Amino acid sequence: MKTYKIAVLKGDGIGPEIVNEAMKALDAVAEKCGFAVEYDEALLGGCAIDATGVPLPDETVAKCKAADSTLLGAVGGAKWDTLPGHLRPEKGLLGIRSALGLFANLRPARIFEPLREASPLRADIINGSLDIMVVRELTGGIYFGERGRLEENGVQAAYDTEKYSVPEIERIARIGFDLAMKRGKKLCSVDKANVLESSRLWRETVTKMAAEYPEVELSYMYVDNCAMQLVRNPSQFDVILTSNIFGDILSDEASMISGSIGMLASASLGETGSGLYEPIHGSAPDIAGQNMANPLATILSVAMMLKYSLGQPQASDMIETAVAQVLTQARTPDIYVEGMRKVTCSEMGDLVAELIRNA
Ligand code: IPM
Ligand code: MG
Repeated sequence: MKTYKIAVLKGDGIGPEIVNEAMKALDAVAEKCGFAVEYDEALLGGCAIDATGVPLPDETVAKCKAADSTLLGAVGGAKWDTLPGHLRPEKGLLGIRSALGLFANLRPARIFEPLREASPLRADIINGSLDIMVVRELTGGIYFGERGRLEENGVQAAYDTEKYSVPEIERIARIGFDLAMKRGKKLCSVDKANVLESSRLWRETVTKMAAEYPEVELSYMYVDNCAMQLVRNPSQFDVILTSNIFGDILSDEASMISGSIGMLASASLGETGSGLYEPIHGSAPDIAGQNMANPLATILSVAMMLKYSLGQPQASDMIETAVAQVLTQARTPDIYVEGMRKVTCSEMGDLVAELIRNA
C-alpha cells in the first residue's frame, strides 16, 4: 500500500486542535481510497521557542524536507509578542517557507453555498458564482528584503525594502498563468506600478509572458483599486497574481467575502511539489484550548494537499464534498446560524470523518 509521510507542525493557539481534526479527515480518506499516512510531528513557532529557544529548529526543516508534504496549524500568540523580530514565532513561519523554497502561495476564496448568508457582503453583490484564486508570491519582496534601523540627524528611523528580480516574478507569474488556463482563463496582476519601481518591473515581466498564454485574458490593477473591487464586484476576478505583501492583505480581504476566515485553506508550493498546507487564519489565542475553533479551513487544506502534492484528486474531492455536506447540518460558533446543530471543533472533525467514511 502506498504510504505518504506527512510532517505535522501543529504550532500554537488553536493550531493543535484544528490539525487534529484535519488528521482525522486525512485518515478517513486514506482508509477509503486505499493508501496509508504516517505522521511526523515537529515544532514551529512559539512552541518551538519554548522548547528549543528558536522558532524554527533545524530538525523541523529536516523533517519537512524528508516528508511527502507538510501540514501546518498556525503560529503566534501574545506570550511571544515582545520578543525581538528574529525570535518571533512568525519568523519561524517565514523561515520554513524560505527553507523549503515555497515561493507560490495559492489562496482560494469562494462561497460555500450553505454559507452564502454568512458573507458580510449584500446578497446582490455576491449573487453570482464566486471563486477567486489569489496567487501570492511567498519568498520575496518586502518580507525578505533588507531591513534595519538607523539614526538620521539624531532621529530614529527604520526601513524595509521591496525588491523583485525577473526570475522571481517569472516563476510566480507562470503559476498564475497556468492556473488561469485550468480555470476561467482570466488573470489579474495586481501591483502599485503608478508608484513602485518593483511593481513596474513586475508588470513588464508579466506583460512579456502573456505572449505565451494567448488564451488568458490578462488585466492589471493597482492594489488600492483591487481592494475596492473585491468588495464592489468580487465575481469579476478569476486568478489574482500579486506580490508577497499585497497578497497577504488581499487574501484576508477576499477570505471574508466567503463569510468566515475559518473556512479558507492555502497551499504553499515550491519546485519540489511537496508543499506546505495551512489554513489562512492565525492561531486565535482568544479561543485556544476551548474546543470551539472551526477546523474546516485546515481540513480543506488537506484537500488541497491531496490534489496538489499527493496526486490523489479523488480523495481531495471526497473531503470537499464532506465539507459541503457538513455545512448543511452542523456549524462551529463562527459560522453558526439558527436551525443548525452547534458543534465543537472536535465534533466537527468527527462529523466530517464520518461523512467521508459513509460516502
Ligand atoms: C499569513 C500570515 C503571515 C504572513 C504572518 C503570520 C507572518 O499573515 O500567512 O498570511 O504575513 O504571511
Ligand atoms: Mg496574512
